[in-house]
Amino acid sequence: MAHPDRFLLAGVMGWPVMHSRSPMLHNYWFRKHGLAGTYVPLAIRPEGLAAALRALHPLGFAGCNLTIPHKQQAMKIVNEVDGLAKAIGAISCVVVRADGSLSGTNNDCYGFIHNVRQEQPGWRADSGPVAVIGAGGGSRAVCYGLAQEGAKEIRLVNRTLAHAREIAEEFGGPIKALPWDERHDALEGAAMVVNTTSCGMVGQPLLDIRLDKLPKTALAADIIYIPLETPFLAAARKRGNRTVNGLGMLLNQGRPAWKAWFGIEPEVTAELRAMVEKTI
Ligand code: ATR
Repeated sequence: MAHPDRFLLAGVMGWPVMHSRSPMLHNYWFRKHGLAGTYVPLAIRPEGLAAALRALHPLGFAGCNLTIPHKQQAMKIVNEVDGLAKAIGAISCVVVRADGSLSGTNNDCYGFIHNVRQEQPGWRADSGPVAVIGAGGGSRAVCYGLAQEGAKEIRLVNRTLAHAREIAEEFGGPIKALPWDERHDALEGAAMVVNTTSCGMVGQPLLDIRLDKLPKTALAADIIYIPLETPFLAAARKRGNRTVNGLGMLLNQGRPAWKAWFGIEPEVTAELRAMVEKTI
């Protein structure tokens, strides 16, 4: 539970970290809930991660989020990694327990699924094949979430086929790894397509995919939020597809973090979205 007699502390560790919109998000929730506390960007070099994580407890932090490049390395430092984070292979959130030990979990999967649900009420993972483009850390959280939600067929396309195969072998179930040259055809008959590659992000190359085989009824999602509408999403929208951008994934992954740190489940409101969108 939240402690009105104590200044609440949390933050995000990354390198670099100043681009992160997480402080804006969490500090909005401190204000909304009338709590004395703050959420700070913590610029931590990779070689300083272990010392920084161990300092959370003595400094009185409830926990922290982790961003690039710490999500994998932190798994070796915390005292316990939960089953979800183990399956995804990365920690996005650290919780300091009462005895000072650190537990790691991953809220990216929750963030992705809840964002899609919030933006597209009535969406179902099992309504048809899903094409997932990319097989990095983001893809693992997306594939895990989709499989958990009951997706019956996940066509996982990646530039490096071996990375897609690794996920398909580890997760099993509905995931089928496909080579990069099949990316255009993988959209045929799909109910949803998700870009999890870095392509389309500011400063990165465009996602090279033709949408002509994607049914107009399909939902197109991106986990990128800078820019808010990637060229891939813009192309999908222009041909009539519904789209979901990546900002809400970031906003929604904060909810279970707050629940674990402060015992409160905050809301992702339209006001919060608009406030963060204005800064992008
Ligand atoms: P994250 O953890 O954010 O998902 P990542 O693990 O570096 O980031 O994964 C990036 C993804 O984008 C990978 O699927 C990568 O493909 P490879 O596995 O072949 O490296 C994909 N990616 C990056 N640049 C790409 C490009 N120019 N064309 C196609 N895919 C690209």
